[in-house]
Amino acid sequence: MTQFLMDNRLHSVTNLPDDTTVLQFLRRDAGRCGTKEGCASGDCGACTVVLAQVDGEKLHYQTVNACLTFVSALHGKQLITVEDLKHRGELHHAQQAMIDNYASQCGFCTPGFVMSLFALEKQQTSFEREPAQHALSGNLCRCTGYRPIMDAAQQVCEQPQADQFDRAEQQTLQQLKSIKRASGPASIEALATFYLDNPNAQLVAGGTDLALDVTQRYQRLPKLISLSAIPELQQVSLTETELLIGAAAPISCCMPLVQQEFPDFGLLLARFASQQIRNQGTFGGNIANASPIGDGNPVLLALGATLVLRRGAVLRHLPLDQFFLGYKKTALQAGEFIEQIRIPRSTDSARQLRVYKVSKRLEDDISAVCAALQIEVRQGVVVHARVAFGGMAEMARRAAHCEAELLGQPWKLATIERAARALEQDFSPLSDFRASREYRMQVAKNLLRRGYIELTSPETLMRVTSYV
Ligand SMILES: Cc1cc2nc3c(=O)[nH]c(=O)nc-3n(C[C@H](O)[C@H](O)[C@H](O)COP(=O)(O)OP(=O)(O)OC[C@H]3O[C@@H](n4cnc5c(N)ncnc54)[C@H](O)[C@@H]3O)c2cc1C
Ligand code: FES
Ligand code: FES
Repeated sequence: MTQFLMDNRLHSVTNLPDDTTVLQFLRRDAGRCGTKEGCASGDCGACTVVLAQVDGEKLHYQTVNACLTFVSALHGKQLITVEDLKHRGELHHAQQAMIDNYASQCGFCTPGFVMSLFALEKQQTSFEREPAQHALSGNLCRCTGYRPIMDAAQQVCEQPQADQFDRAEQQTLQQLKSIKRASGPASIEALATFYLDNPNAQLVAGGTDLALDVTQRYQRLPKLISLSAIPELQQVSLTETELLIGAAAPISCCMPLVQQEFPDFGLLLARFASQQIRNQGTFGGNIANASPIGDGNPVLLALGATLVLRRGAVLRHLPLDQFFLGYKKTALQAGEFIEQIRIPRSTDSARQLRVYKVSKRLEDDISAVCAALQIEVRQGVVVHARVAFGGMAEMARRAAHCEAELLGQPWKLATIERAARALEQDFSPLSDFRASREYRMQVAKNLLRRGYIELTSPETLMRVTSYV
């Protein structure tokens, strides 16, 4: 049974198939059609809703795509849709800001934008362009009314007003805390036993990849095991030597520590899908999905990450570069799952990371090529080189020949050029609608050169820039 708050009432959903999305539930079962279906694939944001959940003694508000969220993910939360904003005949000021700034044209995208503005206001105390852009990164307006929409965001942030949700916060917290935990595994051990007994069930973390099977490929997922109720899988922490990421921790929860430890990786995550998807999607799902164009994987390969895998009571630690076996093929055995991702911390400032994502759009777009380089140079010689790419092969992979050309060699342009040529031995990329094979290879070589430029002195930078 899934229990959640909507419209100040506790709803208990018992009879819906596991693979029902929140959007289907809202429009078909709850008769709430204010939340729109644009693409049903997480790309347009027309279906954006807000989930409020208990965070200590406060409520934490986050946007998600209703089209990619299964109803089970609502358990223990408050679901807020565009219908809930107008109160006692008055529009919510997120709605009023859209009107005041002439920010709605055809209006199809507007409910989604309003919900993103509503969540932005709950998180920001002043207007800053970058957080506002991130908050709206998953909302498309085909009429391209972005400037007035940003004006509306500015108005909402600069003139915040207490609303009915603020006034009811204590009551909502009590109602949410009174909801009993979800049925299904609530500890890692229980999950491990359950999954071993039901190896054909499908694990679901954020569902941002899995839901596409339902909404785009019209498949049924009759038995889902949700990972979101298992606290150990949500934890993100630092030890002296490692960053530990629970496999089901949403990417937005991982970002602060990732940014702190690996700033370049943090910048990449700010371009990972959209805010809505980062609030749901996880590293565990990204890795297990084993997409050749997943963004986390090349970086984790370059950082030398290890996975903690669990099957029943048996744990094994597998370096990520032994995990991917082919196109969407992994080393996971039946009944085995990813419990944790362990990333070695870089204690030495000489070891540098550079990460690059090349995609057609800055936000909410999939990489044509993603490159990650971890390089250490001592006394002018490369003593450590891990170079990995996404989008260049059937899976994210390290560039073994390229690394061999770098290791033990002087850190200079001639070495980089040899390493760039070696990429032709490492990869035979495909052409598809994102990029041609020739473009991918050229970009991969250029990213290596760019990494060299950025890691080298300004004088070299000028020389190399004119060379490229
Ligand atoms: C519009 C859109 C944009 C996107 N943009 C990006 C992008 O920029 N970069 C990018 O890399 N990805 C992107 N994605 C893909 C997706 O959001 C990510 O791959 C995300 O990290 C998946 O995590 P999840 O928790 O939602 O996975 P889920 O959908 O829950 O799961 C994916 C798969 O992994 C399995 N799984 C999940 N957790 C575990 C576990 N712990 N152990 C074993 N198996 C597990 C599931 O059974 C399923 O087969 C995008 C997706 C969409 C829809
Ligand atoms: S309908 Fe387009 S993102 Fe959900
Ligand atoms: S107002 Fe037309 S798509 Fe946004």
